[in-house]
Amino acid sequence: MSAEVADVTLAIRSAFSDRFGRSPEGVWAAPARVNLVGEHTDYNDGFVLPLAIDRRVTVAAARRSDDLLRLVSLQKGRQELRLADVRPGAVSGWAAYAAGPVWALAQEGVEVGGLDLVIGSDVPVGSGLSSSAAVECAVVLAARDLYGGPRDAARLALIAQRAEHEVVGVPCGIMDQMASMACTAGHVLLLDCRSLAADQVPFALADTGLVLLVIDTRVSHALADGAYAKRRRDCEHAARILGVPALRDATETGLDAARDRLGEVRYRLARHVVRENARVRAVVELLRVGQPEMIGGALSASHASLRDDYAVSAVELDTAVDAARAAGALGARMTGAGFGGCALALADAETAEEVTDAVTAAFADRGFRPPEVFATSPSDGARRLA
Ligand code: GLA
Repeated sequence: MSAEVADVTLAIRSAFSDRFGRSPEGVWAAPARVNLVGEHTDYNDGFVLPLAIDRRVTVAAARRSDDLLRLVSLQKGRQELRLADVRPGAVSGWAAYAAGPVWALAQEGVEVGGLDLVIGSDVPVGSGLSSSAAVECAVVLAARDLYGGPRDAARLALIAQRAEHEVVGVPCGIMDQMASMACTAGHVLLLDCRSLAADQVPFALADTGLVLLVIDTRVSHALADGAYAKRRRDCEHAARILGVPALRDATETGLDAARDRLGEVRYRLARHVVRENARVRAVVELLRVGQPEMIGGALSASHASLRDDYAVSAVELDTAVDAARAAGALGARMTGAGFGGCALALADAETAEEVTDAVTAAFADRGFRPPEVFATSPSDGARRLA
């Protein structure tokens, strides 16, 4: 355990003792993620390539003999609920992310009882780094270890996703929960979102002289405002028109033949998905032959496609990507759902500082709030810390 993780563990244990007057039974952590490439492909049964970053949600927990859920978020405050009152539509605000996974685990037939939970996080909220999936995954792990349930990472990710779908009310794909559960340090996770087969692909940045920068535009994306759900519905509609189970099964030739029937909006959404899946495969091939410095073109092409065909970028994301590339980044793209949130840029270690300065200057020129730029590297997935 790194010194930083040891400190975090100690801090959350003592926060638990302060709030509840006893020691927790354990401490769990689940990381945030960025997606290297493969955006808006997960709910089309396609391929994604996320990595866990070194920012995380930490949970200290202990069982109770009644059915109370006493929830403390070190960022958001305190809430008390009865387990019997947790169900779809009944919990709102931050408590849904913590109570939802306990409800979802119970739906698997696990006899879940009450819990005291303290939740800490250093993941910026609403920045597209999956802070919500990190909370869900940390709570699922804690509740599973204390009350029993599946061991398999994919099953646990599906439980966390069910909480997001039914209790939080956001129709997300499976990428974020799988990334948080199943990523490993030094790797990106190649996930087939149809079968949930997961492959660890080496991405040891430190050995390659490359730096992966996360650029938080600090503009909040509106995942719940309907734009995400609308893309998802349009994609499903496009698949029905094409007569395929999901857009993962479509081809560009098939799309071109059906362009009139699809209509321009659905045609372009589908074209993004088909090409993005191909980009994931191309990037994986390059990483497998040890050429991470060659993936920049695919990252930048992914951004252009999300901006022009999928229409989920934002002026701040485009500014970040353009400034990063002009300053010598090998490639850059928005990451996550879009509409704000984060971009990432891959740069040689020698140019990383110039890239950071250029993005910051471009934001100042346009009168945007200063972005937060930080380097990250592939980190561990969700796990028990103590
Ligand atoms: C959000 C969702 C994911 C995925 C991305 C876009 O992060 O939670 O499931 O759809 O957007 O790739």
